[in-house]
Amino acid sequence: MGTVGRVGRARAPHRLTSTTRAATVVTLPCMRLAVCSSKGGVGKTATAANLCVALARRGRVLAVDTDPQDSLGRAFGVVAKGRDDSLAALLEDPVTEARAAIRHDVVPGLDLLPAHPALEAVSVQLAGTGGLVTSIRRGLRPLLAEYDHIVLDTRGDLGGLTLAAVCAADTVLTVFTSDPGSALGVVRVAAFLEQHRTYENTSAVLVGVACVDWDKDGRAAKEVFGALAGTGLPLLETRVPTSRRVPTSALAKRPVVLSAPSSPVARAYLALADEVLASAERLHT
Ligand SMILES: Nc1ncnc2c1ncn2[C@@H]1O[C@H](COP(=O)(O)OP(=O)(O)O)[C@@H](O)[C@H]1O
Ligand SMILES: [Mg+2]
Repeated sequence: MGTVGRVGRARAPHRLTSTTRAATVVTLPCMRLAVCSSKGGVGKTATAANLCVALARRGRVLAVDTDPQDSLGRAFGVVAKGRDDSLAALLEDPVTEARAAIRHDVVPGLDLLPAHPALEAVSVQLAGTGGLVTSIRRGLRPLLAEYDHIVLDTRGDLGGLTLAAVCAADTVLTVFTSDPGSALGVVRVAAFLEQHRTYENTSAVLVGVACVDWDKDGRAAKEVFGALAGTGLPLLETRVPTSRRVPTSALAKRPVVLSAPSSPVARAYLALADEVLASAERLHT
């Protein structure tokens, strides 16, 4: 979300709108949220998928998979055939219309731009010509007015594709688990973001740091949480518990917010979506 004061149409109820003294409706542009970690296997994709579903209950959402392992699409049973029907097409040819590769209403309110393993080679090529950093931002620009939120899932590193996703975002959510190694990943994402803000590659801000695989009885989990609480980073209150429902829902190709909406883990993802939105709105007003 960016400039307050942009005049627009109030669309979804959650959208930050206000009636000014001059009775003008002020609308913030859509939140563009990148879910990042310098580590793989920490729950980014599960979180991104469930946040997408949660946010789609309130407005139009575009899910963008920027990981060549194409897990976000798979979380919804969407698999691209090749570069032409995936994000890779958009990166390969800057005049390509992102719309052509978008799958509409994979769940009500949620469109999805899938990845494909071809994205790897395309991104290496584009990095060679200097076009990778801004590629996703350029490709998504024509779509911004159509969505209330865009959620970008990233691969588990801080390489060129992750940077391109961050450059297309205005907010970054980073996640950790009960594993101490994941805390280091959080600190690295914060430093990465700071560095690229300094380089003016992005103006994205860290909207929150969330524990998305919380082992409530584990000693390691408490220590990781305690260590991160001491960093001054914006630790979110919501903790998504460890639950077998999460891997099961991946198999069933239906994120747990859809498949078991009243389960504790689904309720935690819903609360996380609320907390992320509230934090983003605070940051941008
Ligand atoms: N809250 C959770 N409880 C149990 N398993 C989880 C939870 N969150 C993620 N997982 C599992 O952890 C593994 C890695 O999650 P994933 O979202 O793919 O991580 P990443 O995208 O960071 O690589 C997957 O098998 C996933 O089902
Ligand atoms: Mg993933």
